[in-house]
Amino acid sequence: MGGLELLKCLMAIFCLVSVSLIAGCGKKDYTIIEAKCGNCHKSEIVYLKKRSIDEWNRVLYAMQLRGLTISEKEKGEIFDVLKEKKLINN
Ligand code: HEC
Repeated sequence: MGGLELLKCLMAIFCLVSVSLIAGCGKKDYTIIEAKCGNCHKSEIVYLKKRSIDEWNRVLYAMQLRGLTISEKEKGEIFDVLKEKKLINN
C-alpha cells in the first residue's frame, strides 16, 4: 500500500468514528428523561402534552412527591430537552 492509500484509509476510519460519535451524542440528549422519568411510567408520557414552565415545575414537584430524585442540574437538563422538543408553552 502506498502512502496515499494509507492516508485515505486512515481518513475513512476517522470519518466513520466521528459519524458514530455524533450519532451517539445526538441520542444521548434524551437519556435524562429515560433515566429519570422512565422508571414509574413510560417516558413517552412526558412528550404527550405541552405545558408552561410553571406547569412543568408543578409536574416535576408532583413526581418528586411520588419518589423522583433530581438535582438542580438534572432539572436544567430536563428543561433543555423539553425546550428542544418544543413542549414548553409561553
Ligand atoms: C417515582 C415514580 C415516578 C417518577 C420517577 C416519575 N413519575 Fe411521572 N408519574 C408518576 C405517576 C404515579 C403518575 C400517574 C399519573 C397520576 O397519578 O397523575 C405520573 C404521571 C406523569 C405525567 C402525567 C400527569 C398528568 O397530569 O398528565 C407526567 C407528564 C409525568 N408523570 C412526568 C414525569 C416526568 C417529566 C418525570 C421525570 C422528571 C417523571 N414523571 C418521573 C410517577 C413518577
